[in-house]
Amino acid sequence: MARIVLTGGAGFIGTHIIVEAITQSHEVLVIDNFVNSSPKALDAVKKIVGQDFEFLDADLCDEGKIKHVFEKFKPDFVIHLAGLKAVGESVEKPILYYEQNILSTLSILKAMDNCGCKVIIFSSSATVYGEPQYLPLDESHSFGPTNPYGKSKLFIEEILKDWAKADASAKAICLRYFNPVGAHASGLIGEDPQDIPNNLFPYVAQVASGKREFLSVFGNDYDTPDGTGVRDYIHVCDLAEAHIAAVENSQNIEGWDAINLGTENGCSVLEIKDAYKRMSNRDIPYKIMPRREGDVGSCWSTSAKAKTLLGWEAKRDLEDMCSSSWKFQSKHPNGYDDN
Ligand SMILES: NC(=O)c1ccc[n+]([C@@H]2O[C@H](COP(=O)([O-])OP(=O)(O)OC[C@H]3O[C@@H](n4cnc5c(N)ncnc54)[C@H](O)[C@@H]3O)[C@@H](O)[C@H]2O)c1
Repeated sequence: MARIVLTGGAGFIGTHIIVEAITQSHEVLVIDNFVNSSPKALDAVKKIVGQDFEFLDADLCDEGKIKHVFEKFKPDFVIHLAGLKAVGESVEKPILYYEQNILSTLSILKAMDNCGCKVIIFSSSATVYGEPQYLPLDESHSFGPTNPYGKSKLFIEEILKDWAKADASAKAICLRYFNPVGAHASGLIGEDPQDIPNNLFPYVAQVASGKREFLSVFGNDYDTPDGTGVRDYIHVCDLAEAHIAAVENSQNIEGWDAINLGTENGCSVLEIKDAYKRMSNRDIPYKIMPRREGDVGSCWSTSAKAKTLLGWEAKRDLEDMCSSSWKFQSKHPNGYDDN
């Protein structure tokens, strides 16, 4: 049993990690300020796991509070998910993104140093890579994030590298997620965007439920089997399991390391639309639009490093992703506010 601080635990990915951590008998302390989530998400987690867990409503940039709570809880591990993540907003408000994402990480590292916690697992992203020079993408691919959100991830990875270098017993594991989608099989927790969804899956879900009129497909003339963009989608429960695998296999990591989390499989926008239509039994009208600037035709990941170091690989397929997403969406057409 490990003692884990989970930052950003009320969010989409965090709620699924709490379920997995508690299911594997770990002790968690969740910290979140609900800047992009709802307390109702944590109530739903409690329903799934049938027990309560420790929670602190705090901004992670509040160094004093974070230091104090770490001293009391004495974590063995930190899983650091909290951060602002809207790419478009990060272009409009770069300083807010650098401030929130970087200061919160510094505050956590100081609190870890103060209480002797040596292992941090960080939510990084495939957006740290530049335009794919080859596929599948592996961890030694060149970098080239194109927006402040992606750059904040890369800067944090560098900070963690220096932090781990300064202490021979410290470990920083940067997990570079590809495209997390889907929901817990219960349909009680899932992705609940506060605004118009930025990502394909929640958008398709809202078209299927009738909340949005149609899906915009940006470009159908890429060099892919059906011309639409191909991405590596990973089920959020597989992703949650990868974090707990990182906790349980941290002895395999030396100092700082980065590991891709994907499925080694690409799916096109039209494949997703068709699968979602089958699983939801709803019509999904769509319109072909011009390509978006900065989009690439195809992007998917290798899982070799995750398999070797974490003993983890994704198990769930596109049907699981669509059916679980639909279960959450149909139970919560207006997100957690429907509870
Ligand atoms: N969802 C994706 O597509 C994706 C892809 C790659 C990486 N990531 C990263 O994974 C992490 C989790 O993503 P998610 O989709 O669950 O996002 P989310 O917005 O649903 O969850 C993030 C949580 O962090 C909290 N938070 C943000 N800033 C905070 C602060 N200063 N103090 C306390 N709490 C704070 C929010 O309230 C929210 O509950 C993020 O770091 C994100 O950048 C997500």
